[in-house]
Amino acid sequence: MENIDNIDDKINQDDKDSLIEDLYNELSQEFLTNIEILAKLIQLTEKYYDGSHSRFVAEKSVMIAEQLGIRDESITEIRIAGLLHDIGKIGFSDALLFKTSQEMNPNEYQIYTMHPEIANNILSANQHYREIRRIIYQHHERLDGSGFPQHLTEEKIHRGAKIIGVVDVYNNFIYKRKSIASRMNNPIQATSTSSILETTKSKFNSVMNYLYKKRGILFDTKVVDTLIEIETMERKQLGERTVLRLPVNRLTPGMVIADDYFNSLGILIAARGDTLTEDTIRALIRFAENDELPMKILVIA
Ligand SMILES: [Fe+2]
Ligand SMILES: [Fe+2]
Repeated sequence: MENIDNIDDKINQDDKDSLIEDLYNELSQEFLTNIEILAKLIQLTEKYYDGSHSRFVAEKSVMIAEQLGIRDESITEIRIAGLLHDIGKIGFSDALLFKTSQEMNPNEYQIYTMHPEIANNILSANQHYREIRRIIYQHHERLDGSGFPQHLTEEKIHRGAKIIGVVDVYNNFIYKRKSIASRMNNPIQATSTSSILETTKSKFNSVMNYLYKKRGILFDTKVVDTLIEIETMERKQLGERTVLRLPVNRLTPGMVIADDYFNSLGILIAARGDTLTEDTIRALIRFAENDELPMKILVIA
């Protein structure tokens, strides 16, 4: 009798475990879907960038985190925080979004510095976001306390925020553009990657000098060194590849998109710099079949 009870208990426990697991999977799927929706909304604040600022910050921050030996859950948090770090800018006017922080007047700058606080507020409704929220809240803090909003120093700053802060500065320096018109009417005419690299070369050199000079003062030294290593290597490899205009059904994983592509509503559907995967290729083929994307697109092969 006791044995049968035990078996019943075991079955019940197994059922419970699998129910909990199903529920957990459902919840994490829903969580990730929510992130996707938020990330798409944030792209509305990225009209003045080449490519997607938040996707770049997320991907590059993960690469740095992995090289620094950060693992698993923390990597996922850094990826999501990278995607959502500027969520607090939703609702900012175009007049504010297109300026760099140096170009803003005192009033505009004050509004701008509220975006980590606004993000903290938006994300506070969901417990899942606790660690992610901390990273986002701190992404403008600097080692010497000159950042905002809390003027945190050194070890008080979350390591994820230190990484995102550096990649954020790097991307702003190189990929922020003055107007949406120049972005939409200025496709790459290049037939080789050297001309693409040439156009960003002086910006690349000056941001690298700036980050190097400020390492240990504003920015974490190891993070800066790792970013410099990764970017220098990527640019070198890119210089050895060529730009091709290929039909979407001939794309292969590993190729890199060489221009920004928008759908009829002006929403970015493929961003310059994105590396293709099997999933993204499938999505691009669907977009092309629905006339949302040209049948041939520019890629670095
Ligand atoms: Fe920011
Ligand atoms: Fe940013």
